[in-house]
Amino acid sequence: FSAFLTDSFGRQHSYLRISLTEKCNLRCQYCMPEEGVPLTPKADLLTTEEILTLARLFVKEGVDKIRLTGGEPLIRPDVVDIVARLHQLEGLRTIGITTNGINLARLLPQLQKAGLSAINISLDTLMPAKFEFIVRRKGFHKVMEGIHKAIELGYSPVKVNCVVMRGLNEDELLDFVALTEGLPLDVRFIEYMPFDGNRWNFKKLVSYKEMLDTLRQRWPELEKLPEEASSTAKAFKIPGFQGQLSFITSMSEHFCGTCNRLRITADGNLKVLKRILCGMSQEKVCLFGNSEVSLRDLLRAGASEGELLRIVGAAVGRKKRQHAGMFSIAQMKNRPMILIGG
Ligand code: GTP
Ligand code: 5AD
Ligand code: SF4
Repeated sequence: FSAFLTDSFGRQHSYLRISLTEKCNLRCQYCMPEEGVPLTPKADLLTTEEILTLARLFVKEGVDKIRLTGGEPLIRPDVVDIVARLHQLEGLRTIGITTNGINLARLLPQLQKAGLSAINISLDTLMPAKFEFIVRRKGFHKVMEGIHKAIELGYSPVKVNCVVMRGLNEDELLDFVALTEGLPLDVRFIEYMPFDGNRWNFKKLVSYKEMLDTLRQRWPELEKLPEEASSTAKAFKIPGFQGQLSFITSMSEHFCGTCNRLRITADGNLKVLKRILCGMSQEKVCLFGNSEVSLRDLLRAGASEGELLRIVGAAVGRKKRQHAGMFSIAQMKNRPMILIGG
């Protein structure tokens, strides 16, 4: 495995997340402000060729999983072509996508043919009216159709991402879990995270422990599944149910210790955290990173593969052991979620 993609704690970064666009056809409250966010001019976004050049480079160095994110990746017009071209990269074992599901039923047959292997779909409520309140747009039935299409085409498990917010959808946990009785879903309850302009506050955070207590009261037989290496999710199963449920505990129990992710934003930045700690400057290739390295500028300046790798390696090498903790994150400036891609 590449030394450039290994940090000083020995973490091998074999999972790359690439944001295909900053745009989205929804306006989720927890992701961005109602008016949307200022978008990067098109000329400053990565072209398809640049995305593929970077993907090729990272795969050659040992990345074996790429997840396409956004904004909403399925609104990029050439998303099927991108998947098909990624599929040709030798050594890449998984191509995943994280989508809001609106265009999924329509595009999935082509995406599957192109080589898409894993699907995560965001859905925070099972009630159409509440859906429109949370995402500020219509489309509940389209998302459900997308979920069912993914099951029909054999994706297993189909992961459903549900951001849990107090006073909004915490009352639906049991209904989400009930869905896993007859469907091969992995319903993933995500702790609400703070990003610029997303209305987060501590009172709205429902912790993993609290969610687990609620579920145990209804299903005392809830069983914890073994932890998968580098997974962000803690998985559980109810005996006899087809699917499972998980918790993504970014806030209450971070999983930075096994983090193997790299992220590239739609404008071509590797996300890097630069903080001054004990007088020492440290960087991290992190979701909660607030300083970034432009791979786009390096590509456009004609940097060689070797030069790119040295700069990526320097950023990865300076990664910190863990994020700054719940209280520091709440006070940190960061991009809105839509511009990071999860
Ligand atoms: P898999 O590839 O299926 O394991 O999915 P994933 O959990 O990596 O990705 P997804 O895009 O479905 O993201 C689900 C949630 O996990 C989102 O809320 C992300 O922001 C969060 N998440 C993903 N990666 C990280 C990470 O490295 N750190 C933290 N704190 N949260 C993350
Ligand atoms: N907190 C937790 N999860 C979030 N997501 C978007 N914003 C937040 C937030 N503030 C989730 C989306 C999507 C995934 C990429 O990130 O629901 O499923
Ligand atoms: Fe769009 Fe996803 Fe953000 Fe919702 S969470 S606005 S679907 S990018």
